[in-house]
Amino acid sequence: MKKLSARRRHPLAAIVVLLLALACTGGLYAVFAPADKAQADETAQSLAIDEGKKLYAVGCASCHGTGGEGTTDGPSLVGVGAAAVDFQVGTGRMPAQQPGAQVQKKKNIYSQAEIDQLAAYIASLGAGPSIPTEEKYRDEGADIAKGGDLFRTNCAQCHNFTGKGGALTHGKFAPSLEGVSAKHIYEAMQTGPQNMPSFPDTTLTEQNKKDIIAYLNAVNGDETVDPGGLSLGGLGPVSEGLFGWIFGLGSLIAVAVWVAARTAKAKKS
Ligand code: HEC
Ligand code: HEC
Repeated sequence: MKKLSARRRHPLAAIVVLLLALACTGGLYAVFAPADKAQADETAQSLAIDEGKKLYAVGCASCHGTGGEGTTDGPSLVGVGAAAVDFQVGTGRMPAQQPGAQVQKKKNIYSQAEIDQLAAYIASLGAGPSIPTEEKYRDEGADIAKGGDLFRTNCAQCHNFTGKGGALTHGKFAPSLEGVSAKHIYEAMQTGPQNMPSFPDTTLTEQNKKDIIAYLNAVNGDETVDPGGLSLGGLGPVSEGLFGWIFGLGSLIAVAVWVAARTAKAKKS
C-alpha cells in the first residue's frame, strides 16, 4: 500500500496516466469510428436521401406520388436524375403552382443544401444524369466560336440567335437565356425541360456543352456582339427581314394608293 502511494507521487506517474488515457480513447475511437472514408460518405449519402425523402413528402408527393411514381398532376420522377431536380427546383420551376401552358420560373424556395437532398432522394429511385461538377461548365478550355456554331444549329431555332428567347406554339415559349447560371444551362441540355429536347452526351459531348455555355456567356455579358443594323431585340434575320418587308413594302403600297387616289380626283375635276 505504502509502496503504491509512493509510486503515485512519482514525477512520471502523471505522464503514465495520461498516456494510458490517450491509448484508451484511441482504442475506443478505432472501435466506434466508421471504418473508412467510403463508409462515412455512404452514411452521409443515406442521411441526405432520408432528409430528401422528408422534404419530398411535404413539397412534391402530392403531384409526383408518394414514391415518385407520378400522378395525374405530375410525371413520374423515377430515372429523371439529380440534374433534373437541381434544374427544376434551382430555377424555381418546381414545386409547380398554378396550371398553365408551361410551368413558369419563380423564386426558388429551397436552399441549395435542401435541393441536394431532394436530388439525392430522386436519384436513389432510379439512375439518371447527375449534377455536373464545376469544371464541366467553366469557360476554361472552351471554344467560343465553336459554341456559337453549335448554338445556331441546335438551339437558335427556339431560343433565337443570341439566346434572347422566342415564342413557340400553344402559348409555350423558349425563355431568354440571359442571366441563367452556367450550371442550369448545362442541366437544361442534359434533361430537356418541358418542350425542350434533351441533348445527352451522345448528341452534344461534354466539350460541346462547355463551348455552348462559353458562347452564351460571351454574348450575354457583352453587348458589342450585336451583328450591326437596326436592333430589333436580336430577332434574327428572318424577323428583321419580315419587318423590312411589311413596313417597307407597306409604305410603298400606301404611297401608290395615295397617288392613284389623287390622280383619280384630279381627272374628275
Ligand atoms: C402542383 C404539382 C407539382 C408539385 C407540387 C411539384 N411538381 Fe414537379 N412537376 C409537375 C408537373 C406538371 C411537371 C411536368 C412539367 C412538364 O414537363 O410540362 C413536373 C416536372 C418535374 C420534374 C421534371 C421531370 C423531367 O422529366 O425532367 C422534376 C425533376 C420535378 N417536377 C421535381 C419536383 C420536385 C422535387 C418537387 C417538390 C419540391 C415538385 N416537382 C413539385 C408538377 C408538380
Ligand atoms: C424545340 C425548342 C428548343 C430547343 C431546340 C432548345 N430549347 Fe432550351 N428551352 C426550350 C423551352 C420550351 C424551354 C422552357 C422549358 C421550361 O420552362 O421548363 C427551354 C429552356 C431552356 C433553358 C432554361 C432557361 C431558364 O430560364 O431557366 C436553358 C438554359 C435552355 N433551354 C438552353 C438550351 C440550349 C443550350 C439549347 C441547345 C443545345 C436549347 N435550349 C435548345 C425550348 C428549346
